[in-house]
Amino acid sequence: MYAEALKDGRKIFAVAPMIDWTDRHCRFLHRQLSKQALLYTEMVVADAIIHGPRERLLSYSPEEHPVVLQLGGSDAGKLTEAIRIASEYGYDEINLNVGCPSDRVQSGTFGACLMRDGVHVASLVEAMKKVSPVPVTVKCRIGIDDQEPAEVLPEFLSRMIGAGADAIWIHARKAWLQGLSPKENREIPPLDYALVHRMKRENPHVFIGINGGIGDLTQAREHLAVMDGVMLGRAAYQNAGLLAGVDDLLGSGAVDERCRPEIDWLALRDTMMEYATGVIASGGRLHHVTRHMVGLFQGYVGARRFRQILSTDATRPGAGVDVIAAAFAAVDIEGGVKRLAS
Ligand SMILES: Cc1cc2nc3c(=O)[nH]c(=O)nc-3n(C[C@H](O)[C@H](O)[C@H](O)COP(=O)(O)O)c2cc1C
Repeated sequence: MYAEALKDGRKIFAVAPMIDWTDRHCRFLHRQLSKQALLYTEMVVADAIIHGPRERLLSYSPEEHPVVLQLGGSDAGKLTEAIRIASEYGYDEINLNVGCPSDRVQSGTFGACLMRDGVHVASLVEAMKKVSPVPVTVKCRIGIDDQEPAEVLPEFLSRMIGAGADAIWIHARKAWLQGLSPKENREIPPLDYALVHRMKRENPHVFIGINGGIGDLTQAREHLAVMDGVMLGRAAYQNAGLLAGVDDLLGSGAVDERCRPEIDWLALRDTMMEYATGVIASGGRLHHVTRHMVGLFQGYVGARRFRQILSTDATRPGAGVDVIAAAFAAVDIEGGVKRLAS
């Protein structure tokens, strides 16, 4: 996929892996809004796949394709075993997390702290490539702690490229492993887009995507003038309506910052009601689906009421899919579409 994208000059838009956020229900919703966005799972630790509830961790709906499994781990044996197990599930790509700064991840010596040891990460990528039937990619930071990004990042990338990584997604800020929470580590270390852009220019034959602080499709398009791909995390989750503009962005380059008038909101409502019916029938709760829908109607009259209904009524025990219908009914969809289009 990446090799062809590079050859054809086709750009990739990805929704970032986000623990507790980009679960299968979230991805199903996002897929209704964009056919082309590449959707990442939450990070799944290799050990959990080997010893834990595989089906719960790995299963997903066929509609979610293209979908990428992000793995956390630092042991080649465990990562390859996890890939063997996961290969039955038909993911389109395997991604290695070299960017997560949480304490839990550090104690397992994986995630961002692996930025210190490019040789080891390269050996992991090589091992993963040997067993993976699909592309193996890396998501990393520009450096950690006292590292000098302009020095360590080029070397880290050349090791990943040498190991055969099919693509590299770079979160354009350092992670400070001491003293900052994971949330602070997404906000406080400064973004260095220029460095990431330079990495792309210096590696024309390798797919390199950028992530971090990209707030809307206009900014995404600016990065795509240089980069092969953009990856949005919080903006895509909190304002999922923007995903409805992604296919146009990738096709014609057109950007519509508003929730696109062409979204067929009533069809989306019906699809999500049908989907939630299936989730409830198999033992899940309405809220598992609707919690990802809360940010859908930014800019619409009635958005507040929509949010309220989903965050109260949908969380009650035994809540049924009629709550979704009630929430959509609270929004002035036609008025919003007209207003946003004018
Ligand atoms: C709630 C949350 C959970 C996250 N979990 C992961 C994760 O599992 N794996 C990962 O590589 N990054 C994770 N991240 C980082 C994002 O993938 C992304 O790199 C970061 O949010 C910066 O992009 P943004 O500014 O577009 O949000 C998480 C971010 C958030 C907000």
